[in-house]
Amino acid sequence: MSTTTGTSLVRASGLRKEYGRGTGLLRAVDGVDLDVERGETVAVMGPSGCGKSTLLHLLGGLDRPSGGEVWLDGARIDGLGEKALARLRRSAVGFVFQSFHLMEELTAVENVELSALLAGRSPRESRRRAAELLDRVGLGSRAGALPSELSGGQRQRVAVARALVNEPAVVLADEPTGNLDSVATLDVLQLFDDLHRAGQTLIIVTHDARIAATADRLLTMRDGVIVDETRLTGGSTGRLGALAGLED
Ligand SMILES: Nc1ncnc2c1ncn2[C@@H]1O[C@H](COP(=O)(O)OP(=O)(O)OP(=O)(O)O)[C@@H](O)[C@H]1O
Ligand SMILES: [Mg+2]
Repeated sequence: MSTTTGTSLVRASGLRKEYGRGTGLLRAVDGVDLDVERGETVAVMGPSGCGKSTLLHLLGGLDRPSGGEVWLDGARIDGLGEKALARLRRSAVGFVFQSFHLMEELTAVENVELSALLAGRSPRESRRRAAELLDRVGLGSRAGALPSELSGGQRQRVAVARALVNEPAVVLADEPTGNLDSVATLDVLQLFDDLHRAGQTLIIVTHDARIAATADRLLTMRDGVIVDETRLTGGSTGRLGALAGLED
């Protein structure tokens, strides 16, 4: 399990996920080979039902593949037991979901803090890191607010802070702007761009071409396979200003 795979931070090889059986067999992910380099931002697009979320879940250890391999930071993770997978999900991977998945009864800072506590950090360190991350996403002054007191864009920024609190090797985002209006979308886009510049490895599933345009690489999926791969030049620099000007 400790064999290294060169420079790729995330690697999938012959990755498959099937649901059902017999005539009801559905190949949600049907043989994906993927290498994501450290510091790279990769966008994944494709029609509804083509397997984007399933792929992201497999890469982050939220789900087990039916076949193939998943490697993260040089270690093979597809065969890990429940405990090791849970540990991995708590610290090596940061997830951001379309619907935020915040705890409604906890404040912004507590939501971020909880994630640090669950990963085994001390209460003091967890609080310190949570406050620091909320500052970083521009919500330092709203740390004590409940999710219900925050806008959609602010909630998603809390979720991004939570995803980052344990310094994950990779952040996996599934439609992170799917529930946001266009102003909030640009806000979150700016945040991902900042992370990209800071060297964070990111895989972002999106229907939003503006988000995809800021990536280093765009993968297009169809029927469980990657059908196109486009390298985008200068992904993180200068595009956001132009995009902001193109607002509808
Ligand atoms: N738990 C499950 N049981 C059975 N089928 C599933 C399950 N999860 C996903 N699927 C099926 O697998 C296929 C891929 O689903 P997935 O959620 O990965 O698509 P997606 O590309 O993320 O779509 P969307 O853009 O709508 O979010 C779909 O046909 C879906 O119905
Ligand atoms: Mg999906």
